[in-house]
Amino acid sequence: MKDTRVSVVEVGPRDGLQNEANTVSTEDKVAFVDRLAHAGCQRIEVSSFVAPKWIPQLADAEEVFAAIDRRQGVEYSALIPNVRGMERALLCGIDAAHVFLSASETHNRKNVNKTIAETLSALRPVVELAHAEQLPVRGYVSTAFGCPYEGRVAEEQVVGVVTSLVDLGVDEISLGDTIGVAVPTQITGLLAALAGVLPVDRISLHLHDTRGTAMANVLAGLQAGVTCFDGSLGGLGGCPYAPGASGNLATDDLLYLLSRMGYETCIDEDKLAETAAWLEAVVQKPLPSHARSIARRA
Ligand code: HMG
Ligand code: MG
Repeated sequence: MKDTRVSVVEVGPRDGLQNEANTVSTEDKVAFVDRLAHAGCQRIEVSSFVAPKWIPQLADAEEVFAAIDRRQGVEYSALIPNVRGMERALLCGIDAAHVFLSASETHNRKNVNKTIAETLSALRPVVELAHAEQLPVRGYVSTAFGCPYEGRVAEEQVVGVVTSLVDLGVDEISLGDTIGVAVPTQITGLLAALAGVLPVDRISLHLHDTRGTAMANVLAGLQAGVTCFDGSLGGLGGCPYAPGASGNLATDDLLYLLSRMGYETCIDEDKLAETAAWLEAVVQKPLPSHARSIARRA
């Protein structure tokens, strides 16, 4: 029988808010995370412990972690670039560490000021620290389907970077379509190329919807056995160091597809929709999800 469970990693509080021109208050960030947990989100990427000079929008990661109302069974994770970030994150009691690097050298340099090889060296002790605390580690591979500076990224290059992360001991990989250029055949091709590197149940898709292909890519992922997708409520988001990166795949739209195809996520669509309406008021602009667009017309 087909396994109908799909997990969703809600990255709105991190990927969504890192790109907002108007910094959202700490209080609203806390309310956002709590509302997501209340709606049934079981994996929430709360913030990032990167250099505040690089991402001032998330400089209050400590305050957010200190104030959220932790629910049993919910994984509260954070994005971490180096040992300094990991030390900050451990003091906050994160449940999972999310490390990141890019498959293309130029984007990696722009995003973390290092080569890919230097980044892998910097991440090794981060993974060790996480595992010493029995924390799972997710590794993002950005620009896995295309780079804003280098164009198409060769599949072998992505497989090499994923293999290096798996060798470091990363438990789960999230393939990032950072600027939303992927099409379904690329998803299918890359997943097939990774078959010998790690099982598909340890691969997530992190899609941005710049060209409207994200949902088609979800379907390609589902058909290839992927059971975990990242989403950002309302489609908020983007990477400030990737020109042209628009919002993430919207969790509200993703949920529409999954639930009507018979997949179970534990997320309550009505509560999520209420949170999306609330979030729109917080960021003071229409959110790009189809679900929000329909709700605004109603
Ligand atoms: P750097 O400037 O090369 O690092 O940045 P540095 O070691 O020279 O440090 C510079 C300053 O930052 C120093 O402070 C450090 O102490 C401080 P100063 O002495 O100047 O006062 N510092 C820190 N402070 C707090 N926490 C830290 C930390 N580290 C250094 N962890 C660095 C290198 C990696 C730190 C920087 O480039 C950085 O933070 N980059 C993060 C950029 C980022 O967050 N991008 C967006 C997230 S990735 C993304 O969105 C893609 C994803 O969604 C997947 C996809 O869509 O593909 C995940
Ligand atoms: Mg992203």
